[in-house]
Amino acid sequence: MHIKDELLKYKDIIEKYLDSVLPNDDGLQNKIYEAMRYSIFAGGKRLRPFLTLKVCEIINGNYEKALPFASAIEIIHTYSLIHDDLPCMDDDDLRRGNPTNHKVFGEGMAVLAGDGLLNFAYELMISQAVKNINESDKYLKAMLEIANSSGIYGMIGGQVVDIISENTKVEENVLNFIHNHKTSALIEASIVSGGILGGADEDEINALRSYGKAIGLGFQIRDDILDKIGDIQELGKDIGSDEENNKVTYISLFGLEGAIKKSKELCKIAKKSLTMIDKAGVNILEQLADYLVYREK
Ligand code: IPE
Ligand code: IPE
Ligand code: MG
Ligand code: MG
Ligand code: MG
Repeated sequence: MHIKDELLKYKDIIEKYLDSVLPNDDGLQNKIYEAMRYSIFAGGKRLRPFLTLKVCEIINGNYEKALPFASAIEIIHTYSLIHDDLPCMDDDDLRRGNPTNHKVFGEGMAVLAGDGLLNFAYELMISQAVKNINESDKYLKAMLEIANSSGIYGMIGGQVVDIISENTKVEENVLNFIHNHKTSALIEASIVSGGILGGADEDEINALRSYGKAIGLGFQIRDDILDKIGDIQELGKDIGSDEENNKVTYISLFGLEGAIKKSKELCKIAKKSLTMIDKAGVNILEQLADYLVYREK
C-alpha cells in the first residue's frame, strides 16, 4: 500500500477513537470540552499516532492495544500546538486551517484546554494500564517513554530553549538541542512506544529509536522549510512566523539549500536504521521517511 493511503486509513481509525473517548457531555465545565475538541478535530496529519499504531502492528501483527497510547500522544501534541500559538509564545492566528484556539475561545480557555488535554492523555493511558493489570509493565514503560519525551527533558525543554533563543545568535548545537527536544523527542516516543506495546526486543527498540531520531529532526527541518516556502492554504498555518519572531531555524543558520541537504541526509540515516528490523511491513516506514522530506503540509 502507498504511504499516503496508509496515512489516510489510520487517520480515520484514530479520529473515530478520539471522538469516542473525548468528553462531550453537558457538565457545567463543558466549555472546555468544546475548546479541547475544537483543536483536536480542526485537522492534523495524525503522523505521531500513525507511527505508534503502525510500529505496534509491524512488531506483533495488530495495533488495537496501542490505540489509547497513540491517541494520548496526539492529544499531548495538540495541547503543545495550542500553547505554542498563544500570544505569549509564537502568537499565531491560524492552525490546522482554522483560527487558533485562543482566537476562538480566548487566552484563558486556550491555556486551560491545553492543560485539560495534557491531563486527559494520562487519564487515557493509566486507564488502559489499570484495565490490563497483568501486562501493566508494558503500559507503564510506554507511558514513561511518552512522559519523558513530552516533559522538561523533551518537548517542554525544547520549547524553553526555543523561546530564550529568540532574538539571539546561537550555534548549531543549540539549534539541534531545540529541534531534537521540541519536536523529535515526541516523534521518537511515538515510534518507540509502539515498539514497547508490540513487544519489540532490545535490538528492535534501538533500531526504532535511531529511525525516530532521524525522521524527528528531519520533520522539524521540513517544518522550518515550509515556514519559509510553504503555501498557507495547503499548510493550514501561518507562514513567516519564524522570521517574524526572530527564531533560530535550519533556514536562518544554513539557508534553504543547506536545510534541504540536511533533511535528505537524515532520510538516508533513517532508512539505514530500518535494515536492523527483520519484519514484514517495515517498508512502509521507509516510504514514510521519503515522504516526509518532500511533504507540503
Ligand atoms: C506541527 O506538527 C508542530 C511541529 C512539531 C513541527 P505537525 O506538522 O505534525 O502538525 P499537525 O498535527 O499535522 O497539525
Ligand atoms: C513547535 O515548533 C513545536 C511544538 C512543540 C509545538 P514550531 O513553533 O515551529 O511549530 P509550528 O510551526 O508553529 O507548527
Ligand atoms: Mg514554536
Ligand atoms: Mg509555532
Ligand atoms: Mg514551525
